[in-house]
Amino acid sequence: MEGFLISKTMFTSCELGVYDVLLGAGRPLSAEEISQAIGASLDGTERLLAACTGLQLLNTHKDDGRVLYSNTDQASVYLTRSSPLSLFQSIQYNSRTIYFCWHHLTDAVREGRNQYERAFGVSSKDLFEALYRCDEEMVKFMQLMNSIWNICGKDVVRAFDLSPFKAICDLGGCSGALAKQCTSSYPECTVTIFDLPKVVRMSREHFVSEADLRISFHQGDFFKDPLPEADLYILARILHDWTDERCIELLGRVYEACNPGGGVLLVEALLHDDGSGPLTVQLYSLNMLVQTEGRERTAPQYSALLAAAGFTNIQHRLTGKIYDAVLGHKEVRD
Ligand SMILES: C[S@@+](CC[C@H](N)C(=O)[O-])C[C@H]1O[C@@H](n2cnc3c(N)ncnc32)[C@H](O)[C@@H]1O
Repeated sequence: MEGFLISKTMFTSCELGVYDVLLGAGRPLSAEEISQAIGASLDGTERLLAACTGLQLLNTHKDDGRVLYSNTDQASVYLTRSSPLSLFQSIQYNSRTIYFCWHHLTDAVREGRNQYERAFGVSSKDLFEALYRCDEEMVKFMQLMNSIWNICGKDVVRAFDLSPFKAICDLGGCSGALAKQCTSSYPECTVTIFDLPKVVRMSREHFVSEADLRISFHQGDFFKDPLPEADLYILARILHDWTDERCIELLGRVYEACNPGGGVLLVEALLHDDGSGPLTVQLYSLNMLVQTEGRERTAPQYSALLAAAGFTNIQHRLTGKIYDAVLGHKEVRD
């Protein structure tokens, strides 16, 4: 019942910069020092630090009767802004965007649709117009997408041996984080990131270096514009945004564009076949309800979508992390 108190405590401590202050200080600090550094009341800071200690995000030390605080290892790795594995931006997005949509979960369940209109006063007729309602929101979303692949991107791109596929197209490739995992895991491949024009612009400006010669961009609408030819299409967290009908429409377009002998790799959080778990994915599916037009699915459900679009020899691999992989093939002759 009170799980949201835990999330909000973590969100607030991150947003106020508690973990950054402690990292920067390089020594344990008192509540007074932290409250001054984050510009917050002493009373509020003391309560926040106590709760963070209870959550094992902070360690306490006794010094001459004073209590001093330092980051736990996990907090240093995941909650500080500067860490290479930082989840800071994801936490910000959860706190400032997703949390507001979840405020309307009851309405979402009753109505069976996302809650952008109620949460932010924007129409969700075009889903990504709502998500990208201003440049600032778009960058935040891209940062959210980016961070997880630094943690578990390698697992999904190595779930299958993708080395036979030299020309890869990452459809809806966003900030390029997964494209980078591909080029580092498969030295012979090149990756084209296909995404909406404004996402491509932002990705070029802020996320992918021009020096990264094996990654290129192609802008367009994957439901309308011609898709670049490729041996392998990666659709990471794409199908979970859409209804079955739209998924089959998109996969059909991918099948047409795909070189014979090529394939498609879906990267998604898979539900157990009977839907009985994992809990994280069940919750993600509710999140898809409040935020998108889609849902999380089981491996057989993804296989059925791929088969409906013409793909064969469909296999899936669980990575043991949040995201899994489903690979389908286009036969050499069809
Ligand atoms: C949920 S995000 C997934 C991003 C990335 N694949 C990942 O896993 O980090 C969906 C991506 O699809 C892109 N997208 C949505 N609709 C699109 C369309 N009609 N044409 C091209 N890209 C689209 C979005 O801009 C976004 O980058």
